[in-house]
Amino acid sequence: MKDFPEGFVWGAATAAYQVEGAVAEDGRGPSIWDTFAHTPRRIADGETGDVADDHYHRYAEDIRLLADLGLTAYRFSISWSRVLPSGAGKTNPAGLDFYRRVAETCLENGVTPYATLYHWDLPQPLEDAGGWLVRDTAERFRDYAAITQGALSDVVKHWMTLNEPWCSAFLGYGNGEHAPGRTEGADSLKAVHHLLLGHGLALQAIRSPENSVGIALNPAPVYAASESEADRDAARRADGLRNRMFLDPLLLGKYPGDVLEDTGMADWFARYDVDLPVISAPMDFLGVNYYCPQTIAAPDGPIADPGKASTTPGSENLVAVDTGLDRTQMGWPIDPDSLKTLLRTINELAPELPLYVTENGAAYPDEVGPDGRIEDAERQRYLEQHIEAGRQAAAEGLPLKGYFIWTLLDNFEWSYGFSRRFGIVHVDYATQTRTVKESGRWLKEFLSR
Ligand code: FCB
Repeated sequence: MKDFPEGFVWGAATAAYQVEGAVAEDGRGPSIWDTFAHTPRRIADGETGDVADDHYHRYAEDIRLLADLGLTAYRFSISWSRVLPSGAGKTNPAGLDFYRRVAETCLENGVTPYATLYHWDLPQPLEDAGGWLVRDTAERFRDYAAITQGALSDVVKHWMTLNEPWCSAFLGYGNGEHAPGRTEGADSLKAVHHLLLGHGLALQAIRSPENSVGIALNPAPVYAASESEADRDAARRADGLRNRMFLDPLLLGKYPGDVLEDTGMADWFARYDVDLPVISAPMDFLGVNYYCPQTIAAPDGPIADPGKASTTPGSENLVAVDTGLDRTQMGWPIDPDSLKTLLRTINELAPELPLYVTENGAAYPDEVGPDGRIEDAERQRYLEQHIEAGRQAAAEGLPLKGYFIWTLLDNFEWSYGFSRRFGIVHVDYATQTRTVKESGRWLKEFLSR
């Protein structure tokens, strides 16, 4: 790719529960997503990830497909409860074997494996013991990370501890849209701390000169809807919870005081300052999952509404404003320039830190044409525009090292079930047939230039 820096990494990403299926095979234990998906009315159309893309059995075909598109990196996640069916204690060799086969198949196909240790699927017994609201879970995560990395160290050299801890904390324990479906108000900030501590402990346990370890976050530029003091304050709050609550402890070794004040959590956090050196220990890269920015306005009435299920504890009534940009099927505004803004902001906080776009992509209601083709021009345009923004970011000197498309295959999109397709490869769920979409064909041509 002549317009990108030498060695730029081109990959696609997936997550275990979204693609694997085989939930009761070879000793896998249940995770919070099994429980949640099997709870009535949690998932659109009552779908579950029981079968999903059957990637557990079809991983070799899928990795060959990825390689055939010209991609040379595969970001997949490891299911904690395949490795440790109860979350802690006895290891399940069959679970580790599966990921060894995935990594080996990557290597045989000229694809570098990038493994994420946690993409939201906490073993159910650990949730029963308090989940991410308790400190013990962070320590169990460290143990699991050490076992997994130790077992795969010869085949996997690139690791991500957590995927999007914002979602685990605020969708899992804030508004309850994700597993485990709890609505705990400001206590969801305890989950933030335990997730970040888990990251830090795992980092300590697995980082070495032979490998590279980072975390994948989902920060987003937050804009105020107007210059009014109220809107700027609302944007400050949204930015605090979405971005600074994660970037500041990881990159600067401190929590944002204003967020702790707004949420009434300052006293609780003060007890755990001792964890900040662990959380902010140097990592090898930061993964940025980027989809869209947010534009935020203040509500007419009070901003706080304690007791209301929300992803913004202490500021439950924040208003997300439509700025008129085109949107994807998720309703997410399309704004490639904001990817550059975001990368610049992060680079200012940590000028030396290598950055990867570890997820970027778009859902559209694809249809299979009479000729069998899937014409997804909108997805192609979305990818083209964001890849171009990445190229510009690298050209202006930002340390952007790679770009991973979300996602390789249409898959189980969490609470949306199978109703949202993000893949560059179409999956017919009835037959498990894979068909490369036109966006995938375009990508292949683009990567071969
Ligand atoms: C991200 C998740 C990923 C997928 C995309 C659309 O937040 O990490 O699993 O759901 O959004």
